[in-house]
Amino acid sequence: MSSNVKIAFLCGSLRTGSINRKLETALMRRAEEHGATAERVDLADYEMPLYHGDLEMPETTKALVKHLATFDGVVVVSPEYNGSLPPLLKNMIDWTSTFDRAHFTGPVWGIASCTPGPMSGIMCMRQIQYILTRLGVEVIPVQVGCGNAAKAFDDDGALVAQPSSDLADNMLKAIIRRTQEKAALAANA
Ligand SMILES: Cc1cc2nc3c(=O)[nH]c(=O)nc-3n(C[C@H](O)[C@H](O)[C@H](O)COP(=O)(O)O)c2cc1C
Repeated sequence: MSSNVKIAFLCGSLRTGSINRKLETALMRRAEEHGATAERVDLADYEMPLYHGDLEMPETTKALVKHLATFDGVVVVSPEYNGSLPPLLKNMIDWTSTFDRAHFTGPVWGIASCTPGPMSGIMCMRQIQYILTRLGVEVIPVQVGCGNAAKAFDDDGALVAQPSSDLADNMLKAIIRRTQEKAALAANA
């Protein structure tokens, strides 16, 4: 059943063969199964130089903020680098936070991470949650950690490992539910 909820998916890895891209694709398909509209927003299309304060605001930063702000939900799927988030994502967050925060305060955000080993990116997800919360984002508390990537997907790329599969359902349903609650509140205002 269609929910009219639009969710953007952002991957923190541009690497060919990325396991986080694989998780992103699986989550997009799962979101569609729950009735949402899923759209990949590829950070390769929004290249930004490494932030420093003398640089002019890139047009890609402005375009990304405007585009993300049109969604009800944003799901960020991130690799873990040294217990933290990769520079691609941190740079995007820093640039966009200095332009406008409509994409942080409008959509509800969800966080996911995929790792080759068993730890499932819990350290990087915690850091992303901390940064987003500081920026005023409503972050869904359920996060999709997906460890042991080589065994997490079936041959069609569907996420089959538990508890990751249940976490994916719970996070996506929470984004849809919160969007509907916000719409109902706005209609009654
Ligand atoms: C600089 C760097 C640091 C990494 N640090 C971690 C880490 O802290 N925890 C972890 O589970 N994996 C770590 N890895 C391994 C990544 O999880 C692995 O390379 C993964 O495939 C990256 O995601 P991707 O396939 O989506 O690009 C690190 C990889 C790199 C390149």
